[in-house]
Parts: sequence; structure tokens; C-alpha cells
Amino acid sequence: WFTQPLLVLVFGASGDLAKKKTYPALYDLWQRGLLPRQTLIWGFARTKWTTQQLRVHLCRHVEHSDRIHRFLDLCYYRHGKDYGDMSAISSIFQSCTKLHNLLVYLAIPPQVFTDATLALKQVLSQSRVPGFVRVVLEKPFGHDSTSCQNLLDSLKEQQWKESELYRIDHYLGKEMVQNILMLRYNNSWLQHIWNKDVIQSVHILFKEPFGTDGRGGYFDSIGIVRDICQNHLLQILTLIAMELPKQLTSAAVRDAKVKVLKSMPVLRPRDCLLGQYEGYSDDPTIADKNTKTPTYVCLRSFVNIPTWEGVPFVLEAGKALDERLCEARLFFRGSGTNALVLRLQPQPAIFLSTNMKRPGFSMSPIHTHMGIEYGEHCIVPEAYTRLLLDVLRGEQASFVRDDELVAAWELFTPLLKSIEMRSPIKYQPGMDGPLERENLLKSMEVGKPWSPPRASL
Ligand code: BG6
Repeated sequence: WFTQPLLVLVFGASGDLAKKKTYPALYDLWQRGLLPRQTLIWGFARTKWTTQQLRVHLCRHVEHSDRIHRFLDLCYYRHGKDYGDMSAISSIFQSCTKLHNLLVYLAIPPQVFTDATLALKQVLSQSRVPGFVRVVLEKPFGHDSTSCQNLLDSLKEQQWKESELYRIDHYLGKEMVQNILMLRYNNSWLQHIWNKDVIQSVHILFKEPFGTDGRGGYFDSIGIVRDICQNHLLQILTLIAMELPKQLTSAAVRDAKVKVLKSMPVLRPRDCLLGQYEGYSDDPTIADKNTKTPTYVCLRSFVNIPTWEGVPFVLEAGKALDERLCEARLFFRGSGTNALVLRLQPQPAIFLSTNMKRPGFSMSPIHTHMGIEYGEHCIVPEAYTRLLLDVLRGEQASFVRDDELVAAWELFTPLLKSIEMRSPIKYQPGMDGPLERENLLKSMEVGKPWSPPRASL
């Protein structure tokens, strides 16, 4: 693919996601010399811009070096009356005289997904693309089981093959998430402890120190369970809980993840604490001032395979909390502090929360950690950059397959329905969640690891 002309088509090019994630990732790939020399990047959206306006916009919003202008020379723009505007899409193809491979990035709202894929399919039936056609789809992939199934059915009806579809969950592109299988695969000591005999509970935690940040209108119809748990945290859970396949091929990894999801009992409302930060509905983009949408959740699940029988997998996520942190913590039996911690952010780290003798004459224990800390010098690629490179390489292991998605929605849909009318508990912004959190975590056998100070990482 690297020597063949590539067309990248960005649907929703004038939108927020394209500006924050898609174009920066393409620019990053280009800077690293990872895009073919003959690459063209066409933006497509409803906004009535010219190519020049797109370039000015990108120059303003994409963090760049003085080479940006050479990158911008590859970027063009066309607007359409809507995302199903075949004549606008086909005019892009006509203007590309050299075209071998096609990467389409759908950074558009789910309501217009299938209009876009249908128009694309029709245009493709008239324009020859001799190489690959790969379509990247952004979440949300549905709102519940039914809408997800409708989306999948439409794509099938339009004759898209699963091998052409890349459903992005950007957490799968994060360094530490990519590391989970590597660690498990290459360390026999880890393989010995990775089970219910040694591990008492698994706590997967996501905290953000800011609220909806002007995205309230969107967030209010989604809530934290759909926004973070059903996708990002569940993906981490499956990578931790899955049985290691003999080889880490895309098919084998995704089969193993599906097996985990299918083994999980449907989530129970009584195993779930919901919270909403004070002032959430003050966001001017939220219409319903009595909204019950949760901005915090802590829920317990189980993985009913022999390795993990009886071990609680606790997913906790919240906005407007005390810090930015995402960690997977595996607590060892018989201790509230001993844990193996995989930290995704703010900086990746792996450490064992450990107790040892206080140095000197004292025989008292102190908490410490043994760990690997990725310092500032350790530059890891952005999740989107890595995932787009995977798309170009045709590597699907880090993308969500259709059956995986169906299984994930089946797990969450009953819970989501039953909590619709439940009033979340209020918490103060800047706290680590509602006050009830601490007792709940204790009851779920989740301890507190001793963490190295963030500044030292
Ligand atoms: C997105 C959610 O998927 O992930 C956002 O929609 C959230 O609400 C974001 O802020 C967090 O991603 P990251 O990479 O900043 O941890």
C-alpha cells in the first residue's frame, strides 16, 4: 500500500472530531513518513467551504510545525448538500486521476452514517478502485441493541464486508491498552497470577477533571455508561479477561474477546451506582434542566469462565472528578493494597503496589511500588495515529467487530433501560465521585493501591 496512490476521504471534515483527531492523526502519519508519497486527502461535509477555507481552518486548529503547508497542499475540500450527495462525492473521485487505495473516515453523526455509506457504495460501483477500500466508523455505534442491529443490517444490505469496516474505539490505540496482550503473552509469571486464585478483583477506573465542556447537548442523550463504559472500559476488561489465543491474529484476538462478552451475565441495576455532578444541567446546551443523565457510574460485572469465576470486574467512570486518570487495577487476594496497576493516563506506567520494610532500624512496613514508568522522554504515538496506521496496514485486531458490538450492547441494554428513570446521586465537582462510592467499592472487594505520586512519572 505504501507505494500505491492513496485517497483519504474525510466525511465531516469541517466538524469537531475531524479537527481534533482525524486531521492531526493524518498530519502525524505524514510527518513520520507513513503516508504514501502520492496521497490526497479530500474533506467532505455540508459546510460551504472552499479548499482554501479548510486549509486556513486546519492551520488554525491542528498543532503543527513549519512543514504544515506541505501537508496542507495534499488537502482538498468539497461540500455537498448532505452526506448522501452522490454527485459531490463522485466529483471527488473524478478529480483523482491516480487512485489505487481508498480510506474513508466517517467523522459524522450516526443518524447520517448509512446515507453516507450508501452514497459511497453507489459511487464506488461506478469508479474503479483497484486496491483496497476501507471505511473507518466512529462511535456511537447505536444507542442500544436494536439500533445497533439496525445499523449493522443496513451496512450488510448495502453489501459492505466486515473486512472493509473499521469501528474505532480509540482506547484500543492507547499504548498501555496495546501493551496488555504483549505483557500477558511474554511474561510467564504474569500468566501464573492471571486468574481467580490470585486475583481478588479487577477495578477499571476512568476519571476526568472536567465536565461536559460545552458537549452537554450530545452527552445528555448518551450518559457516562454509553460514553465510557460500554466501549472503552469494556474493551479493557475483555483484553484482561480473555484467554490468550495461540497467536495474536486479528481473528483470534477478536474471537477471544467475544467469548468473554458472551460469558458475562447481563448487568444488574442493583450492582450499579449512578452520580451526577452539581451544576451539570447549568450547561446551556442541555435543554432538560431536570435531566437524570448520569455523569458518574460504578458498576460490577462478572466473567463466567473458569479462570475468573466469582471475581468482580468493577467499571468506574466519572466526569468532573478530582483528576485525570485511567487505570486497570488487579488486586491480589488477601490485601487491600497489593495490586498490579496498568496506568493508561495521564502517563503510561505499570507498577506493583507493594509493602516493604521501612529502610533503617525500624521493622515497620511501608507502602511503596515497583514499577516501570514511561518518562517524558518516552514518546508514544497518539491513539488515532496508531489506529489509522493499522487501517492502512489492514490490521483489524484493534477495531470492534460486529459480533463483539452486538454482545456488548446485549450486556448493557437492559441496564441502560432500567436506569433511565433513576435519579443519580449528586456529587461535588472535584471529588472522586459520590460519597457512597467508598463503601460500595469495599463491598465489591476493591481496595486502594498505593500509587506513586503522578509528578514522579
Ligand atoms: C470519548 C468520550 O470517547 O473519550 C469523551 O466521548 C471522553 O467524553 C473521551 O472525554 C476521553 O478520551 P481520552 O483519550 O481523552 O481519555
